[in-house]
Amino acid sequence: MKKYTVAVVGATGVVGREMIQVLESRNFPVGTLVPLASERSAGAEVEFHGKHIEVKVLNKDSFDGVDIALFSAGGSVSAEFAPIAAKSGAVAIDNTSHFRMFPDVPLVVPEVNAHAIKGHKGIISNPNCSTAQMVLVLKPFHDAGIIERVVVSTYQSVSGAGKEGMNELESQSRKTLSGMEIECKKFPHPIAFNLIPQIDSFLENGYTKEEVKMIEETKKILGDPSIQVTATTVRVPVFVGHSESINIQTKRKLSVAQVRELLSVMPGVEVMDDPSKLIYPTPRETAGRDEVFVGRIREDLSHPRAIDLWCVSDNLRKGAALNAVQIAEAWMQG
Ligand SMILES: NC(=O)c1ccc[n+]([C@@H]2O[C@H](COP(=O)([O-])OP(=O)(O)OC[C@H]3O[C@@H](n4cnc5c(N)ncnc54)[C@H](OP(=O)(O)O)[C@@H]3O)[C@@H](O)[C@H]2O)c1
Repeated sequence: MKKYTVAVVGATGVVGREMIQVLESRNFPVGTLVPLASERSAGAEVEFHGKHIEVKVLNKDSFDGVDIALFSAGGSVSAEFAPIAAKSGAVAIDNTSHFRMFPDVPLVVPEVNAHAIKGHKGIISNPNCSTAQMVLVLKPFHDAGIIERVVVSTYQSVSGAGKEGMNELESQSRKTLSGMEIECKKFPHPIAFNLIPQIDSFLENGYTKEEVKMIEETKKILGDPSIQVTATTVRVPVFVGHSESINIQTKRKLSVAQVRELLSVMPGVEVMDDPSKLIYPTPRETAGRDEVFVGRIREDLSHPRAIDLWCVSDNLRKGAALNAVQIAEAWMQG
C-alpha cells in the first residue's frame, strides 16, 4: 500500500494534536509525519505510533516531498503557506476560514459532498466546526424534504478557541472558586460560570463572523444558495464539544418517525433520543467520539412543516481533525 508524507501545520495546537491522534487511530498510511509549528515550539516533540518526532519550525521549504499538508495554525499562516504547499505538489487541507468561500476551493464534509473534492486545485477547505456537525444533520432533511429555513443557536466549547481558550476557562474557574481576581485575555468577558453571546468579531449587520460562516458555509456545502439560515453563536464554559439547538423548516412535511429513520441511516450521525429514559446527548458524554449525536427530536408546535432537535459533537473531532483526515482519505481514494 502506498504510504504518504503528511505534514501537520500547527502540530502543537489542540486541533493539530488531535489530527495526529486521528491519523494514528485510523491507521492512515503515513510513511513520514512532518509536525510543524512556530519558533515557540522549536525542539518540542509529538508522539506518533509510539515514536517521538521533533516539531520543526514552519518555513517555505517545509513542504518539499510532502504529499498531504493538514493546516491548523490560523488563517494568516494558511493564507501564506497553503499555496506554497500546493505549488510544491501537496494537497493542502485547511482548517481555517481563510479559503472556505473561495469559488475554486472545495469546502467539504465527506459524508455530504465528497464529490466536490474532484475539482480541487491544490487546496481543500474544512468547514467551521459548528457548520460541520450541522450539515451532517441537515443533509438527509435536504434530500427528503428540501430545506426552506434553518434557525440555529449554538453552545460552543472553549476548545473551539484553541489552547488559550481552554487555559482561560481552567484558570478563571480555579480563581473564581478561590475568591481571586480573574483576567480576561482570550474572551471579551469572563467565561467561567458565564456564557458569551459573541464568537469572532461583529459585522455591521449585527451578526458575528462566526454566525455568517455558519450561514454561508451551509449553502456552499449543501450546494443550495436558496436555504435560509439564521444563527446565534454562543461560547459556553464547556471544555470540549459543541451543542446546537436547530429548527429545520422543510417544503414537504416530515414526521418525527421519518426524521428518526432518515438520521439513523445517515453516515456519521447517531440518534440518541429517548426522553422517557432521560436520554439525549451532552458534550461531556460525547467528547472523544467521532459521531454527531442527535436527540430531542420533535415537531415544532408553531409550524406545520418544521422539526426541532438538539445536536452535539466533539468540535475537535468532526468539527476539525477527524473531518480533515476523512477529506484526506476521500482524496486518496480519488
Ligand atoms: N479548535 C477548533 O475547534 C477548531 C475547529 C476548526 C478550525 N480551527 C482552526 O484551526 C486553527 C488552529 O486552532 P487551534 O484550536 O488548534 O489553536 P491553538 O491550540 O492555539 O494552536 C495553534 C497552532 O498553530 C501554531 N502556530 C501559530 N502561529 C504559527 C506560525 N506563525 N507559524 C507556524 N505555526 C503557528 C501553534 O504553534 P505554537 O505552539 O508554536 O505557537 C499551534 O501549533 C485556527 O485557525 C482555528 O480557527 C479550530
